Amino acid sequence: MRTISIINQKGGCGKTTTSVNLSACLSEAGRKVLLVDLDPQGHSTLSFDYQPDKIQFTIYDAFATSRTNTFSWDKVLLKQSENLYIAPANLLLSFLERELANYIGREKILLARLMELDKPFDYVIIDCPPSLGLLTVNALTASSEAIVPIEPSFFSLHGLNKLLDTVRLQEEKTGHIIKVHALVTIFNNRARFDRELLREIQSYFGQSLLRTIIRMSVKLGEAASFGKPIGSYNRSSIAYEDYNALASEIMMQEEYCVTEDSGLALKPQPIDGGIIFRYKNPEAAAVMLAGDFNNWSPDSGLMEKRDMAGLWERLITLDPGTYQYRFVVDGKWIADPSNPIKADDNLGGVNSVITIG
Ligand SMILES: Nc1ncnc2c1ncn2[C@@H]1O[C@H](COP(=O)(O)OP(=O)(O)O)[C@@H](O)[C@H]1O
Ligand SMILES: [Mg+2]
Repeated sequence: MRTISIINQKGGCGKTTTSVNLSACLSEAGRKVLLVDLDPQGHSTLSFDYQPDKIQFTIYDAFATSRTNTFSWDKVLLKQSENLYIAPANLLLSFLERELANYIGREKILLARLMELDKPFDYVIIDCPPSLGLLTVNALTASSEAIVPIEPSFFSLHGLNKLLDTVRLQEEKTGHIIKVHALVTIFNNRARFDRELLREIQSYFGQSLLRTIIRMSVKLGEAASFGKPIGSYNRSSIAYEDYNALASEIMMQEEYCVTEDSGLALKPQPIDGGIIFRYKNPEAAAVMLAGDFNNWSPDSGLMEKRDMAGLWERLITLDPGTYQYRFVVDGKWIADPSNPIKADDNLGGVNSVITIG
């Protein structure tokens, strides 16, 4: 399962439009998608023609019942199609910040709830509010990726440093990596200003900028006002073309990500910031990584459980070279089952081997 937050504390940059239409296009392409509306304004909810104020159970319940544990996803999820479900939001969500002020662990509530999902989703897309408060922090804690929509305007680069600092802070707190992708939205190729700003965005984000650019199209606003994703409103629009291209680009990255049932790509992979080690075992209570890069000391290689399927992850920065390692699963030392390259440890056991660079 890939959990992707759509974040930017700036309003009006296309978070909701991207959440709704990316979710719809991914679901049309056969992926099982959950769209979580995490904005008290309920714009994603409205975009699917639901009246936020009239909905009894919303994503608010996922947070508010955290103390009593009586929450059930079944009451909250609205089925849109075979492959698309929505967790709606309304204004109640805006009270959470105050209600949970003294609740220890308030930043991890959504992560814990997503682990309780019993439907096999390929993607969870989270439409975040225009702030970097508790709700966005919950979204980031639950996410392995974030898409930052940026619309070319005088203020659009302002605040990005703060946003990226918030992401890094969450990474440090949780020990898991959040891969950030920037997405240019509401782009007008005929405007010189937009073209110049695009170059600035390209040099700011480099490889992290998604290749797809979402062009300006009035059809997107029209579709939302009719309570439909673009594919249900106008399939010949450039907006439908662009959001399909975005969905394809995101799906192209799947080989580097692990989905719940594929179990693919578990062997160590280079990503931004280092090498990611992955191990899958839903039964394990604690998994650590030990190798010659950390003096075979498992305590410094704690792995983080990422989802209900028991995916464990750890990112390490490594210089080019060849390294040996093992996982320590509930105290038992094992070689990496998904890495075919092994070496004798001269003590009668086997280590896994990776070569970097
Ligand atoms: N590619 C686009 N072309 C034209 N208008 C757009 C585009 N994307 C979004 N909009 C419009 O811009 C406004 C803000 O978009 P929205 O997705 O609600 O932003 P956010 O969720 O970041 O506040 C909405 O009126 C929306 O219809
Ligand atoms: Mg919005």
